[in-house]
Amino acid sequence: MVIIIAGAQWGDEGKGKVIDLLAERADMIVRPQGGANAGHTVVTEDGEFKFQLLPSGILYPHVTCVIGHGVVADPRVLIREIDQLRERGIEPDNLVISERAHMVMGYHPVFDQLEEGVRGDDRLGTTRRGIGPAYSDKIRRIGFRIGDLQKEAFMRKKLDFVVGQVKNPILTDLYRDRTFDWEEMLAEYRDYAARLNPYIRDIYPLVQDALDRQANILLEGAQATMLDLDLGTYPYVTSSNTTAGGALTGSGIPPTRVDLSLVVCKAYTTRVGYGPLPTELTDSTGDQIREKGTEFGTVTGRARRVGWFDGPVARYAVRVNGAESMALTKLDVLDALPEVGICTDYEFRGRVHDHPMANISHLKHCSPRYVNMPGWQAPIGQCRTWDELPTKCRAYVEALEGVAEVSIDLIGVGPRRDQFIMRKRSFFG
Ligand code: IMP
Repeated sequence: MVIIIAGAQWGDEGKGKVIDLLAERADMIVRPQGGANAGHTVVTEDGEFKFQLLPSGILYPHVTCVIGHGVVADPRVLIREIDQLRERGIEPDNLVISERAHMVMGYHPVFDQLEEGVRGDDRLGTTRRGIGPAYSDKIRRIGFRIGDLQKEAFMRKKLDFVVGQVKNPILTDLYRDRTFDWEEMLAEYRDYAARLNPYIRDIYPLVQDALDRQANILLEGAQATMLDLDLGTYPYVTSSNTTAGGALTGSGIPPTRVDLSLVVCKAYTTRVGYGPLPTELTDSTGDQIREKGTEFGTVTGRARRVGWFDGPVARYAVRVNGAESMALTKLDVLDALPEVGICTDYEFRGRVHDHPMANISHLKHCSPRYVNMPGWQAPIGQCRTWDELPTKCRAYVEALEGVAEVSIDLIGVGPRRDQFIMRKRSFFG
């Protein structure tokens, strides 16, 4: 069985936790896109683990964890995460890195920083991990793939060209910034090659074999629908396709082999960085949700913007990802509120819109229309079945199902691994 997992909003929905839950019965987990801009936190009996690049299933030795073609991987981050696991007594023998995945090179975060700087007030609020510059180079066909680490003569020639002819002239002539020494880089990347060689493979046979065996495969999307390069709030997006389509190209799994698309959605909305957020709460209710939900970025530490549940966004995510199922996370964060808002649609210049408009200026200036529901004002962290949830809480979840037009099958009621309600569907049979 193949399940695609995608974020429904602007990221940080708690996909890592949902994947961790499903990983127990998975054989393979593929991270198809994104890079060290993502941050997953998994809390186990052994404490808290934070990953940026390694797939969340890495803690299960029986799961083959694949970094797919569509990822831009910073070798320094990869090595750091592998070392961190080793320090805690975990050997990541189950890790495989596609030789087709691209590398975030040393100069990419520098360009990310410089480009954000010159944008001034129009900056995107990127994570400054070099994601946009690395994907741009991939598309310009001057990127380095992980597999290139195994070809020193090729690396030498290409570094000479890319660093000497493309990057350094821009750094000196345009930005008056530091330059890179390609020979030093070659030595540095030789070390990375030695460390990463055991994990680098052509993943095509591996993935095809898993499909042939009818293995349970999870495609772990990073970021989320509204940050998708094509479907999100461009230009306030990340530089990859974060929706179901990106999961396919990033893993090499054909659409005809996907059994289920599952979107992960918070019981409210958050966003890091700039760009429209129609249901944003800038009042004390927003502060309360931010504090209770610890809405501060895993990667950058930035405070996340917070808002009510955005129905048009959730419905759009369900439709563009072809999702038949939704995991609703962090419902417990709303426990104390006397009233909870659900945005059903937007109004802009006298017209009602049931989905996020492509024109982000319209999205920024639209008026969300809400239904307000009474809060349940009771702690739900101990609930493990649907029936144990307070009636008003169930009514809220049912209202979200109606607005998003999807079945909510998993409900997160706290940060721990066991704080989940498995409602209608049992995944992987
Ligand atoms: P970039 O991916 O670093 O280029 O950042 C582009 C936009 O995507 C910024 O608004 C980031 O805050 C946002 N972003 C990137 N990755 C994540 C994530 O994992 N969670 C939430 N927002 C993200």
